[in-house]
Amino acid sequence: MIVQTDADLLGMQAASNAVALTLKSMIGYAKPGMNTFELDEYGAQLLKNYGAISAPIKDYKFPGYTCISLNKEAAHGIPSKGKMLKEGDLINIDVSAELDGYYGDNGFSFILGNDLTGLQPLVSASREILLAAIKEIKAGVRIAVVGRFIQQKAAERGFKVIKNLVGHGIGRKLHEDPDEIPCFYDPYNKAVFKKNSVIALETFISTKASFVKEDTDGWTMITRDGSYVAQHEHTLIVTNEEPTILTWQNGI
Ligand code: CO
Ligand code: CO
Repeated sequence: MIVQTDADLLGMQAASNAVALTLKSMIGYAKPGMNTFELDEYGAQLLKNYGAISAPIKDYKFPGYTCISLNKEAAHGIPSKGKMLKEGDLINIDVSAELDGYYGDNGFSFILGNDLTGLQPLVSASREILLAAIKEIKAGVRIAVVGRFIQQKAAERGFKVIKNLVGHGIGRKLHEDPDEIPCFYDPYNKAVFKKNSVIALETFISTKASFVKEDTDGWTMITRDGSYVAQHEHTLIVTNEEPTILTWQNGI
């Protein structure tokens, strides 16, 4: 959406606060020995307290209030009593929700406790590249150029980007124009970031693979070769200067 009124701005900020604070609390709540169903239930209660409605359930009938992806699950992992968290796990939590007609979306990968599998560089790359990429966004900048920036920064650290998971416009719906904000350079994509537009910018940084596929559960995205993927995501407003980060309270 393009923010046009104070009501739009306040609405987007309120929805973004709800998802950002829920995400931050869930990260702090995750402990070894807890299953991802319990972690999701905790998130569900927080969203409810903020008056927000889970977007994955509302819009997609996803079997969980939030997406929780563990280790080799790249995205859209289903919370489950059978998935127990343990020290060293790579965890991604993605929280998106609707509040009073406005949507917020944010995601965060992290290592639970000690980095037993050596994936911290992947996680740090994702977080740092997201923050650097945000600074590249201004009204009039081509979306493809920011994609190229993310891809180049990942390559500098020896990582790849996932090409079939993308950021997106957001506002009155979870996914709005622009439909695709990729993490790579597409020379045919001439679209530019528009002033006052709201977008969800997401990194998808991978140890090796460039694509994900749907797992047999019909939801979870995985790589064919077992590559690990880290993602960080902010909802933000494009301006003539640096963007306004609406989900800053998630702690990215
Ligand atoms: Co998200
Ligand atoms: Co998103």
